[in-house]
Amino acid sequence: MLACDHGYFMGPTHRLENPRKTIEPLLPYADTVAVTRGVLRTSIDPKWDTPILLRVSGGTSVLHEDLSDEGITTSMREAVRLNVSAVALSIFVGTTHEKQTLLNLGKLVDEGEEFGMPVMAITAVGKELEKRDSRYLSLACRIAAEIGVHLVKTYYCEEFSKVVNGCPVPIVVAGGPKLNTETDVFELAHNALEEGAVGVDMGRNIWQNDNPIAMIKAIRAIVHEKASVREASQIFNENKTTRSVENAIHA
Ligand code: R5P
Repeated sequence: MLACDHGYFMGPTHRLENPRKTIEPLLPYADTVAVTRGVLRTSIDPKWDTPILLRVSGGTSVLHEDLSDEGITTSMREAVRLNVSAVALSIFVGTTHEKQTLLNLGKLVDEGEEFGMPVMAITAVGKELEKRDSRYLSLACRIAAEIGVHLVKTYYCEEFSKVVNGCPVPIVVAGGPKLNTETDVFELAHNALEEGAVGVDMGRNIWQNDNPIAMIKAIRAIVHEKASVREASQIFNENKTTRSVENAIHA
């Protein structure tokens, strides 16, 4: 899964300033693309048949200290009308708005059941990235599964298999902020898959890289072909170009 929904609270995120220019070249290599309805309407041509994971939670911006005060921004009827394949909502376990986001999730799952729409929960941590350990993520993923989601997106962490073992629905991992090297990204994806994740929902470590197509091809090989970190690096090196993506995106 290719995550491109960051603008819903981060605005024109670096290298996602013009969503169409960032997303379109990557669509042929993505199983699913995660976006908001605004980006779906404006920036993804209907000619593409890549399944859409629609972000339906929001209500805060990065300017606010507390990112947990989210509601549902897009109705289930609208998701059906947009012909998306699944909807996604963030929960903020352990925050001031824990209850609110969990009840949002319950409502979304109820509506999803009515319309036949799968729901993915995102175990969001807002600005508190240090929260991402196996104890916290196990708790958050399990709660999401108990509420009835079909899929959970969480972060990779030490002892990740504990998170997977405690969660009776499939898990995909986010990439998080851009890592230092491509190898770090391949290791994250590879280890997550080894330890039980069914895939990734990755954004910045793909499209903030100077060679986003090479990155998505390498990550795709890890997910679909069980490529090793070394094989993924090889795929990346074979596909990278010398042309700067900054120029391509802003051309
Ligand atoms: C946050 O905006 C979203 O949940 C992202 O879809 C998620 O964090 C995955 O993107 P990244 O790999 O950039 O963390």
